[in-house]
Amino acid sequence: MKGENFFATCPRGLEQALAAELAALNAREVKPVDGGVAFAGDLALCYAANLESRVASRVLWRVGGARYRNENDIYEQARTLPWPRLFDVRRSIRVNVAAIKSPLKSLDFATLRVKDAVCDAFRAARGSRPDVDTVRPDVRIHAFLTRDEATFYLDTSGEALFKRGWRTKAGDAPLRENLAAGILKLAGWSAPTPLLDPMCGGGTFLIEAAMMALDVAPGDGRTFGFEKLENFNEKQWLTLRDRARARRQPARTLPLHGADKSGAVLQLARENLTTTGLSEAVRLKQMDVLDGGPPAESGIMVMNPPYGERLGAADELAAFYPRLGDALKQRYAGWTAYILSADMQLPKRIGLKASRRTPLYNGALECRLFEYRLVAGSLRRGKPRPVTQ
Ligand SMILES: C[S@@+](CC[C@H](N)C(=O)[O-])C[C@H]1O[C@@H](n2cnc3c(N)ncnc32)[C@H](O)[C@@H]1O
Repeated sequence: MKGENFFATCPRGLEQALAAELAALNAREVKPVDGGVAFAGDLALCYAANLESRVASRVLWRVGGARYRNENDIYEQARTLPWPRLFDVRRSIRVNVAAIKSPLKSLDFATLRVKDAVCDAFRAARGSRPDVDTVRPDVRIHAFLTRDEATFYLDTSGEALFKRGWRTKAGDAPLRENLAAGILKLAGWSAPTPLLDPMCGGGTFLIEAAMMALDVAPGDGRTFGFEKLENFNEKQWLTLRDRARARRQPARTLPLHGADKSGAVLQLARENLTTTGLSEAVRLKQMDVLDGGPPAESGIMVMNPPYGERLGAADELAAFYPRLGDALKQRYAGWTAYILSADMQLPKRIGLKASRRTPLYNGALECRLFEYRLVAGSLRRGKPRPVTQ
């Protein structure tokens, strides 16, 4: 296969981390832009990116693109693309259109026109058209519109890549797996540095960390959109997947620690660790972050406290943050804490000086990843600040 062009999407703020992953897979022409990374390579690279990227949301394969002015131009361009050679007419389809600064009035109408164009291309070539299935399509087609350019992609991922295939039940507001993995990368965490998530919920950070430490390919255990395309090279894919399986280290004790004040939530974390075969790698404990202490002298803490918008009332959180700041200061000297929050008042409330603030998006929710270096010596030993009630 000659060089193809791809675009991997990711949560905004993680583009550089994704670019580094793709470069490590030997992708060519790696170019991060807002919300993703363009790159070039062959089919095997596309399979590898789907299998190995911890940060990507989807890997899209560019099948065409041109300038446009109206919906009719989009229809005509989509109509001339070789869809009937790219997938079988018996595959169901779904079309998604996304746009930035497009002059079109209705994206729904543009979506309909792309769908019509694909179906008309099939009718002309095969005498019949594919069915539409918006819930579980075999093949997803994406069109991306800028002010004057339309680009058409086939989605090689299928279900979004943060769905690793192990989550059966979602706890309270679980983090997306690729956002959790990206935060671990931004934090510079790697084994054997101790890692603590003191508000671990279903354990997403810990599971991603264990997978990183044990070299588990995040996509091993799920299916992908590329398997439904005509050019699917099963032999090549199985070779890649088997190589990843051979590399995987068996679960062993790792310095990964999780805690949550809720016993029910911890039970869910336990179930998730069992499903992923990672129970041995992680220690869990029922604990209130305001009461407990660190599991090691130093390490990295990651956490995403409840957001006012989603769980817990805003005034409860306003009272919680100063106490969290005190707990971190008094008991976690030597640790670096990373807190993901959409609450822009957090820095003021927590009473600690952030050494870094990284804008990140949790879905559509604008967040910051606050970094706090909890330095020994900033403590007044023997005279801890009273915990504000
Ligand atoms: C937004 S959820 C974390 C989700 C988690 N990152 C995941 O991906 O599943 C926040 C968690 O903090 C826990 N929590 C709230 N207050 C706490 C406290 N004071 N100490 C420990 N855990 C707490 C809640 O039980 C909840 O599971």
